[in-house]
Amino acid sequence: MEWHFPGSTTASSIYLCHNAFVDSTAVNRLNWDERAPAHAVSPDYHVTRFVEDPAFLSYVVQFDIPRLGEISGLHGVHLQCHIGTDTISLARLGARMTGLDYSSAALTEARRIAERVEADVEFVLADVYDAGSVLGVGNYDLVYTGIGALCWLPDIRRWARTVAGLLRPGGRLFIREGHPMLWSLNEQRDDQLLVVDYPYFETAEPHIDEDDGTYVATDRAFAHNTTHTWNHGMGEIITALIDVGMELTAFAEHRSVPWDALPGNMICDEQGEWRMRMGPERIPLSYTLQARKSA
Ligand SMILES: C[S@@+](CC[C@H](N)C(=O)[O-])C[C@H]1O[C@@H](n2cnc3c(N)ncnc32)[C@H](O)[C@@H]1O
Repeated sequence: MEWHFPGSTTASSIYLCHNAFVDSTAVNRLNWDERAPAHAVSPDYHVTRFVEDPAFLSYVVQFDIPRLGEISGLHGVHLQCHIGTDTISLARLGARMTGLDYSSAALTEARRIAERVEADVEFVLADVYDAGSVLGVGNYDLVYTGIGALCWLPDIRRWARTVAGLLRPGGRLFIREGHPMLWSLNEQRDDQLLVVDYPYFETAEPHIDEDDGTYVATDRAFAHNTTHTWNHGMGEIITALIDVGMELTAFAEHRSVPWDALPGNMICDEQGEWRMRMGPERIPLSYTLQARKSA
């Protein structure tokens, strides 16, 4: 398939493909709008546990507790918050949280869950690149994001500018994300070989995929199965942050990731972390990165 990249609009990424314009943002949003209600009732998002136990935290937030530090009283924003379970977890740790996502179906679920668990969290519908104009500049002590967030964004430098714009001087970015090395692998092999089939570095063109499933257990059938995604190399992410005045304060690479990223080749522990069955020391599967906006 031949793609040309004429640039992106404020909220969309529009590509010319076979003489037709294709809006990646619209394609991806259809995919998310359809999956969000299925995710909210999937056992893997543990909504019932949030309802039953007011101290329950998502496994993703639990994983990073040793690195998160004290966040009580912080004004935080969770970019690409999806159905809000991590956002609510951060609120349960005492932060005053706003969640932002461009999927209205995801935010409908997020608001419903927050109401059920009596969490005081605001959810805002917007494209991440518009977060600064929607939420205001310099208003936040903490920007939190990750776990399948950056791969939906075509331009990591624009994302870094957005993050820096949201933070007050001295404010923190906290991200746990799938490692770009993992995103570059062919995930359909069943022989334990790690084969790099997709770009590690950011590309102008999206990687286009068709998948009629999702990353959590569900018996729902989906009709919108196309996704447009982009990888961003570790150096590209870190350099983009440094170039907008962020100081790297912590960086850890992990042998696990909180979804079944290489189906057939992974085992899951009781905290929902998936590791390679063989040779888990070969490559990092995820990372936690922290950075601070220069005061
Ligand atoms: C994999 S989910 C994030 C998962 C989240 N960490 C969780 O497990 O709850 C990705 C989210 O990013 C959102 N998203 C993708 N591109 C976006 C964009 N450009 N602006 C805002 N939200 C976006 C999707 O709607 C979806 O809810």
